[in-house]
Amino acid sequence: MFQGNAVRLQALDNGLVELVLDLQGESVNKLNQLTQDDLQQAVSWLTEHAEEVNGLIISSAKFLFIAGADITEFSSLFDRSHADIEQWLWKTHNTLCALEELPFPTVAAINGVALGGGLETALAADYRILAEDAKIGFPEVTLGICPGWGGSVRLTRLIGVESAMDWLISGKAYPAKVAKSLGLADAVVSSDSLRDEAITFLKDVVAKGDAYKTKREFKYAIQKNDEVWKASIAAVKEQYSKKLSPHYPAPLAILALATSHPTLVFRDALAVEAQCFATLSLTDAAKSLTGLFMNDQVLKRKSKAAAKLAHPVNKAAVLGAGIMGGGIAYQSASTGTPIIMKDIREEALDLGLHTASGIMDKAIQRGRLDEAGKEKVLSNITPSLEYDGFEAVGYVVEAVVENPKIKAAVLSETENHISDIAVLASNTSTISITELAKSLRKPERFCGMHFFNPVHQMQLVEVIRGEQTNEETIATTVAYANAMRKTPIIVNDCPGFLVNRVLFPYFNGFNRLLLDGVGIERIDTVMETFGWPMGPAYLADVIGLDTMVHADQVLQEGYPERMTHDGVVIIEGLLAQGALGQKNGKGFYEYGKDESGKRFKKVAAAAQALIDEQVDTSLEISDADIIARMMIPMCLESVRCLDEGIVESSAEADMGLILGLGFPRFRGGPLRYIDTLGLDVFAEKVRSFGHLGGLYQLPESYQARLDAETRFF
Ligand SMILES: NC(=O)c1ccc[n+]([C@@H]2O[C@H](COP(=O)([O-])OP(=O)(O)OC[C@H]3O[C@@H](n4cnc5c(N)ncnc54)[C@H](O)[C@@H]3O)[C@@H](O)[C@H]2O)c1
Repeated sequence: MFQGNAVRLQALDNGLVELVLDLQGESVNKLNQLTQDDLQQAVSWLTEHAEEVNGLIISSAKFLFIAGADITEFSSLFDRSHADIEQWLWKTHNTLCALEELPFPTVAAINGVALGGGLETALAADYRILAEDAKIGFPEVTLGICPGWGGSVRLTRLIGVESAMDWLISGKAYPAKVAKSLGLADAVVSSDSLRDEAITFLKDVVAKGDAYKTKREFKYAIQKNDEVWKASIAAVKEQYSKKLSPHYPAPLAILALATSHPTLVFRDALAVEAQCFATLSLTDAAKSLTGLFMNDQVLKRKSKAAAKLAHPVNKAAVLGAGIMGGGIAYQSASTGTPIIMKDIREEALDLGLHTASGIMDKAIQRGRLDEAGKEKVLSNITPSLEYDGFEAVGYVVEAVVENPKIKAAVLSETENHISDIAVLASNTSTISITELAKSLRKPERFCGMHFFNPVHQMQLVEVIRGEQTNEETIATTVAYANAMRKTPIIVNDCPGFLVNRVLFPYFNGFNRLLLDGVGIERIDTVMETFGWPMGPAYLADVIGLDTMVHADQVLQEGYPERMTHDGVVIIEGLLAQGALGQKNGKGFYEYGKDESGKRFKKVAAAAQALIDEQVDTSLEISDADIIARMMIPMCLESVRCLDEGIVESSAEADMGLILGLGFPRFRGGPLRYIDTLGLDVFAEKVRSFGHLGGLYQLPESYQARLDAETRFF
């Protein structure tokens, strides 16, 4: 029988054969090239020896069935031609079709997960038995592609277009019981007895003779292209088309795909899907989104390495119960690390607890939490006006007011109350970690732990290494951030760290556009159409104009040669008029409710008047040039951060901006964006705006990259 390095065949009794998925040297099964080749050989063996076989069970020797295709193989695949990609797909199509056409019944026994190519393999079997804790789904859409090995074709025929659309467009993994209710699973059994039950099931099926063939006929059946069908397809298209973003070609293509192929002969439908896959895999969005997956792997590897060196944090403390302190306390408590929340004001403690309660009340309303769960989280937060209990904590995050003197005093006072092995961190947004460390006896056990607002929603935590911070401190911070279900990115200390350092040049570009007479709303609309969740004016209002002005000044001081403003700073003028942004409903926009209670946002007359006072010109500018003038400063600052070692890799720089700022995911991050445009094209654009000053100058390293024809990824 066949014995490969990823797949083997083994004989069971009564002429039954087991195809075991067991990729050697890996903890999980993937449908990588090796597995595809092995699968092809195993199926060939079964075809050639069909006379000797009565039935087949497909099982996994690992804790999951198949995790999906090997995405690390995608980047080289996506550089190939459309025809090459289709040809590559057909190799495995032919294997799965041959598996599907074997002249005996086949049963897939699914444990753990079967995702993407894993589920496609399972759908080629006649029957699927799922372990009760198994999950199955098609995550391809999250990578900017569609299933390529018949997933959309088989799924649509098995569960109908409407349900299939949900699966294919959401990219979610569904639990076994959902699969059973839709008829995708023939039985759901306990995980311990999965293999035995699947064999018993197969024996029953074999005893029923040709009954399994009806399952195949059902899959091969062609949908009549009649009026009823056309109406139902029109309804599905209507339901989804408004929700889908033009920036993400995959969901739109999947909608067109899965509503078109059910009326085709099975093999023709596979061909349509293969063409769709090849087309999508050549899009910039697919390259960016698969790139993000790879970037995420880089972060996971770093977290894994840090976990080995980290000191365990069983209990923590946070100083300050304000917006950030309250959020940090909630996040720590709700993810299982009890935390002391210390403030100097009783009412601040009440407010901190109230904020945590509010977050959980919303979760209760959505059915994601119950009262007992809420009480448990609250019992994990100990409000305090004193340092009681600090000697037993492994980690302290300082989140008091953004004032270097107060912070230095609070940090050095705290150091007297904690053990020698505890780590102390500051959530400062703008103060140098190396400077703050000067007030400490143990600067090596101090670093930055920069959360973003609102803490419970924002995924990123910048872990800032000061000059004296040691590796154990960094590792412990990374591990604690992971325990809080956040994504830590390690950065070296510099003004603005990574995210704000890169964000404020973008705002600087915005200020220059305003001074050139380009309208607030126009800039916001152009940048939102580019893909940002909100334009710069709206974002400034959300951040708060006081915070904006403060951070902007820190960055101007840090990098005067390029970040000093050329002309009046509009946010400073707005702040001087008492506008704080959304906090007080006054900023670039006015916020309020109309007579019918509907929320509105409109350009604030005061902001417009302030700009009009400063501006006596109205530049004719294209949308493309607005985008360029906004994005160039941000992208170049990202390059500088990479050059200076503020972040170690392009992957981390891009992930920081995706997770910390909401950089459009389909563009992959600022460095991927340069790669997509082409380094030479981007350089040309930068040069064309060189007259605008320091923010529009290529760093020296860029020329070296151009000469060496290297890319960021
Ligand atoms: N708000 C944001 O968007 C944001 C985002 C990232 C980082 N940060 C940083 O987080 C820190 C806190 O910001 P915030 O917005 O939560 O401020 P905040 O004003 O809402 O809260 C600060 C809290 O610190 C308390 N406090 C003052 N002195 C104290 C002391 N000696 N001991 C204990 N508590 C004390 C105050 O009573 C107050 O409750 C700042 O360093 C800020 O730069 C803020």
